Amino acid sequence: MSRAATARAHPNIALAKYWGKAPGAGNAPAVPSLSVTLAGLSTTTSVRFDPALGADALVLNGREAGGRELARASELLDRVRARAGLACPALVESQNDFPTASGLASSASGFAALALAAWHAAGLGEAPAEVSDLARRSSASAARSVYGGFVELPAGVAGRDEPLPARPLAPAGHLPLAVLVAVTAEGPKATGSTSGMNETERTSPYYEAWVRHAGALFREIREALLAGDLPRLGEAAEASALAMHASALAARPGLLYWTGATVEALARVRALRAAGVGVWATIDAGPHVKALCAPGDAERVASGLAGAPGVLRVLRASPGPGAGLVGAAGPAPAP
Ligand code: PMV
Repeated sequence: MSRAATARAHPNIALAKYWGKAPGAGNAPAVPSLSVTLAGLSTTTSVRFDPALGADALVLNGREAGGRELARASELLDRVRARAGLACPALVESQNDFPTASGLASSASGFAALALAAWHAAGLGEAPAEVSDLARRSSASAARSVYGGFVELPAGVAGRDEPLPARPLAPAGHLPLAVLVAVTAEGPKATGSTSGMNETERTSPYYEAWVRHAGALFREIREALLAGDLPRLGEAAEASALAMHASALAARPGLLYWTGATVEALARVRALRAAGVGVWATIDAGPHVKALCAPGDAERVASGLAGAPGVLRVLRASPGPGAGLVGAAGPAPAP
């Protein structure tokens, strides 16, 4: 008998960045992070555990995937199988409704949707914290996409592989916010976030300073968010992104995720700010710039960013919901 479930999850953008892993197994972050889950864009993933399958299979956006992509999905499925006492392979079918090169991390929504679908297909019931912990083991930012609105993920403790789920901090409506993504390049980024943060940790003299500083930035961002203070939140979020990139730039060789268009878009955000608009920038492990502003300023910020040299297009997003199940699951799981 096969068992199936389908889940949908949305990307998130970190306002307080996660960059660096706590020493030891389990993929726990070295620093606490705080993000906003985005509405509109989504990944939908179906998982079917089926004894008739020879092995796990993964179909990503209609294309059969293998190699590292399949291995990462299988690692997550293995954890679910161990937890549920299942032995059979699974077919995973996943679809993004936003382009992979959109500047929004598909790993966060991808692993959040996969974790939730696999958990329910295995009949493990309602357990968001466990699903978040499961997603975190594959991609730490994915732990945050399990929840909607504003979400925090604590740092792990070195050498302790223990449950570490994200936690919802405030609902999507808590702070009126627009996120404008200035897309500056097509195609996948040159250095993925895991290898980027590992290289930073291994070779950057600024890594320790980043880890020390990131906790204070996180607390400032958390406080500003809870107080509904967008200017304070924006200023500290921009500082978090720049400090993260400073640590990566000082790696050997330096990790330069930015292009000329990244700098142009950043300069445009600062020019708008100098002109009195409340707008701040954040940048992940890629060349795209994400601007944060009040919804009433979104139009002006979007056209400012669209006019920056090298910006290809501007996507608009806002705080949105957490991951959820779609439609009906397969036959009721055996007790
Ligand atoms: O979760 P990962 O391994 O894709 O790493 C995400 C790292 C950043 O996007 C750069 C920062 C963050 O907190 O999302």
